[in-house]
Amino acid sequence: MRVLGIESSCDETAAAVVTEDGEVLTDVVASQIAMHGPYGGIVPELASRAHMQAIIPVIREAVAGLEGGLDAIDAIAVTEGPGLVGSLLVGVQVAKALAWSLGKPLVGVNHLDGHLAAVYLRRSGRDEPVEVPELPFVGLLVSGGHTALYRVDSFADIELLAQTRDDAAGEAFDKGAKLLGLPYPGGPHLAVLAEKGQPGRYRFPRPMLKSPDLNFSFSGLKTALAVRVRDLEADGQLADAGTADRTRADLAASYQQAIIDTLVGKSLRALAATGHRRLVVAGGVGANRSLREHFRAELLRLGGTVYYPRTEFCTDNGAMIAFTGCQRLSRAPAAYTSIRVEARPRWPLEELTEP
Ligand code: KG4
Ligand code: ZN
Repeated sequence: MRVLGIESSCDETAAAVVTEDGEVLTDVVASQIAMHGPYGGIVPELASRAHMQAIIPVIREAVAGLEGGLDAIDAIAVTEGPGLVGSLLVGVQVAKALAWSLGKPLVGVNHLDGHLAAVYLRRSGRDEPVEVPELPFVGLLVSGGHTALYRVDSFADIELLAQTRDDAAGEAFDKGAKLLGLPYPGGPHLAVLAEKGQPGRYRFPRPMLKSPDLNFSFSGLKTALAVRVRDLEADGQLADAGTADRTRADLAASYQQAIIDTLVGKSLRALAATGHRRLVVAGGVGANRSLREHFRAELLRLGGTVYYPRTEFCTDNGAMIAFTGCQRLSRAPAAYTSIRVEARPRWPLEELTEP
């Protein structure tokens, strides 16, 4: 089976064609980062307009790379939510029109479900087969909008174990980067700066690590960085040409380490609580190299295994949506005969049901 996946929930317009065993045949992503950059965050109205402009060319490119073009597609999958409503509507309406005109099944996909399933993807003809996790596993989803731990006994049965009480981990990266004067979205920039710094130089809190539950909180950490930056600025240390670069890199490394330690600590606790030995780390923050190394070392120590999507499938893409749609369709082929798919801006993963 070949499924065309369409993603437009946030600031990436994406389309891809994927087979049922996770082979990515084509994959196209149009990013809006440059457009939102000057505003320091996503402007929803601009995002939906940019999706409108990009969506047909992106789908066309994804299908052009495919032998047989649109005729070779067995079904269409689209992100229904969660996300920005105006952005979601663009993908949903185009997917509906396409499914209706081609007479092909249409599957609505939960974006978070897609992030977790991205661990099964590999690019056709380019990637070695990856080692993929068997079920059950614990899923840590760390993106710009979500930070949560799930017990995944099957993709039809996902239980929320814990989530953030305020900012998501990606938001903590982005807000921290902003405080350090880095461009939007700051996560990857902060990660690059952190590589040059010493993580032990500045002490930052490890939020909620002492609390016995599994929930996260990152807003206090961001405040701690803001206070530290203010003090160092008052002291002239961020202006001094001789020390400023070093200081900023050490701040980035120390701050990043606090986020990583918190994510690792809570994830290990979730593994202990569930008795599971496999962990999947998914979502944009899962692309962070240092985070990957820390998780790998900790899981090795415990005799467990951590699995990551390939880096290019950590951030938003159409392939994860195509693959998730494909799996849902295989489980219930008779259920997707109508084009009844709606934009669902708020749609917690644990509320996902099977048809
Ligand atoms: O999953 P994603 O593409 O979009 C959402 O669904 O939110 O995640 C985007 C988030 C942003 O906050 C971005 O700064 C962060 O992931 N991110 C990173 C890295 N790459 C992306 N954060 C830390 N290190 C990275 N290398
Ligand atoms: Zn995402």
